[in-house]
Amino acid sequence: MLQIGPDGRIDAVRPATDGETVDVHLPASTVLVPGMIDTHLHAPQWPQLGTGLDLPLDQWLFENTFPLEARFSDEAYARSVWSSMVPTLLASGTTTAVYYGSVHEPATIALAEQCIESGQRAFVGRVAMDHPEGTPDYYRDAGPAESVEATARVIEAIQALNAPTLVEPIITPRFIPACSDGSLHGHGELAAATGVRIQTHCSEGDWQHAHVQERCGKNDAFALADFGLVADHTVLAHATHLDDADRQLLTSRGAGVSHCPLSNSYFANAVFPLRRNLDAGMRIGLGTDVAGGASASLFEACDHAVTVSRMLEDGVDVTRSHDRGVAQSRVDIVTAFYLATAGGAELLGIEAGLLAPGRFFDALAVDISPDGPLGIAPEVDDWSRTFEKLVRRGSPASIRAVWINGRLVSGEA
Ligand code: GUN
Ligand code: FE
Repeated sequence: MLQIGPDGRIDAVRPATDGETVDVHLPASTVLVPGMIDTHLHAPQWPQLGTGLDLPLDQWLFENTFPLEARFSDEAYARSVWSSMVPTLLASGTTTAVYYGSVHEPATIALAEQCIESGQRAFVGRVAMDHPEGTPDYYRDAGPAESVEATARVIEAIQALNAPTLVEPIITPRFIPACSDGSLHGHGELAAATGVRIQTHCSEGDWQHAHVQERCGKNDAFALADFGLVADHTVLAHATHLDDADRQLLTSRGAGVSHCPLSNSYFANAVFPLRRNLDAGMRIGLGTDVAGGASASLFEACDHAVTVSRMLEDGVDVTRSHDRGVAQSRVDIVTAFYLATAGGAELLGIEAGLLAPGRFFDALAVDISPDGPLGIAPEVDDWSRTFEKLVRRGSPASIRAVWINGRLVSGEA
């Protein structure tokens, strides 16, 4: 039995005593697992989820993504997107989301309000981008000072919503190519002054990596650190191109990576060496990168993390008979689900991601009935195989109920 305190935390995990009344009964034929943590997704890209991924990153941003994000200057449009997106993510098992908003203050604050209304745990960041070459003139902050001031106002507005254990602001300079030095420095200073967490994109692919090398004369991780943007629990998205010195820098600061395996297959020009980064002691969570990844499902992200790790290990080009892959790169589905839950919580520094005393009760009841959506076959499926199916075949159809902070937020129980 799980005992939940008034603050939504798990007080105790213990067998129920005879005759004891309980508040919540799990639906029949379900098991409880921790809710999942999406450490990287772009809320204003929701309308293009599943489309438009045939361009390289820089062109995809200018041709598809910036025009779409610019529409969120219309607060009513933003609210209509948020009000369908957040419940959809909850029903998919995403109990914590680390969002990039758009540059717009009202749309970003409205996203935080929607998360509170729907009961989703979230970090919500206004995207800062002011570089005259790295952004289009119709979608950018007016300048470095305006950029930092707008971020500061959104931080205050989100903190004033007064839901500190549920929704928090996060400082979100988009990435070095889209931001001026002044804006990057200013956001670093704002982070130091407020203690608010930071997220940005780091060394995502060949193009970004080379751009930062050329502009800053060093790797992205070190350049971000110079701007004051690598701190405890900083979330760096993608980071496929890190070298050993980058890894050492990030782990020593307590920063980590949001690993987005599906998006990386399109934009990163390489497979993120997950096992190598884990072995270096890096904090790592999983991300969907909506809509650079074409799926909003963290169950699918777990499967993709395993798949790409296998491709890295074996290599992909059959004409290379030697040196085709990188030995010992694989991860298994248990590791992937760990990253989608406890790993994400560790990256963010939040007390979620595990069903254990002291953690917030963020959980999913998953249907494992033999005639149910996971296709459990009792004649062959032991607990370990049932778990594999729970993750690999998981979808909204298999999630019967979702709780966050001890409150039922989706489904029925
Ligand atoms: N780098 C800067 N902006 C973005 C974005 O929206 N998606 C991805 N995948 N990478 C980015
Ligand atoms: Fe991204």
